[in-house]
Amino acid sequence: MLNSHQVAAFKENGYLVLPEFVSAAQCRSLMDRAGQLIDTFDPGDHPSIFTTHEQRRHTDLYFLESADRISFFLEEEACDGNGHLLVPKHRAVNKIGHAQHDLDPVYGQFSRTDDLAELCADVGFADPLLLQSMHIFKHPEIGGEVTCHQDSTFLYTDPMTCTGFWFALEDATLENGCLQAIPGGHKSGLKSRFLRHGTDVSFDHEDTAPWPMEKLVPLEVAQGTLIVLDGLLPHYSAANRSGRSRQAYTLHLIDGQAHYPDDNWLQRSPDMPPRGFN
Ligand code: FE2
Repeated sequence: MLNSHQVAAFKENGYLVLPEFVSAAQCRSLMDRAGQLIDTFDPGDHPSIFTTHEQRRHTDLYFLESADRISFFLEEEACDGNGHLLVPKHRAVNKIGHAQHDLDPVYGQFSRTDDLAELCADVGFADPLLLQSMHIFKHPEIGGEVTCHQDSTFLYTDPMTCTGFWFALEDATLENGCLQAIPGGHKSGLKSRFLRHGTDVSFDHEDTAPWPMEKLVPLEVAQGTLIVLDGLLPHYSAANRSGRSRQAYTLHLIDGQAHYPDDNWLQRSPDMPPRGFN
């Protein structure tokens, strides 16, 4: 799948951009499926707002129990102070997560392909496990900012093996909140871990220095592009104030040969362990 130059660039930069990795039709099928899933979602049941702003981070039981479910998280600006929707539900969902790749056949087919399995081998996986999936909407005008972070903060393994596959389901530009990353930033180590203690969560900061945001490089990509992200790569996306959505699908993989600690927030139930490509 990858040539030696691409593997070297991934090791050097911490990310790799692969245009036309999936077809427009595949992107469309995932966006259509997301719409069908939202049809079944009753936001009255459990309004759960997703924000990455640490002060306002509202990590409820619905979030903590989403490791092996298909759950719906709302956009902060789509709700009033009481969690009631200010916009129609199809415009209000921030993301769907975190196990649709195991529970839904359309997501399963998109997520388990020979191409992705080959890519995993190329970037050094011995026993790739598809741990987490997210369909991110970044709706027009209200799509929230995702503050600068490393994915290994949330999906830590020892040694660190978390790798993200970020699929542009629509064109992603600076205008609609494309991914931004700090090239080579994965070489500076892990800044913090997000820890779970029962139903409580906290950050354990190793390094409290602010991110060098001036080093962020925008990764503007066309629909169908796959961006591979080292779990230690600092990345960010701005709020979407444009009139166009920026849907993306992400998969986060870990290596089954690494230790997965029981104080990570995401814990699969024993009867649904993370699976590889088979
Ligand atoms: Fe991320």
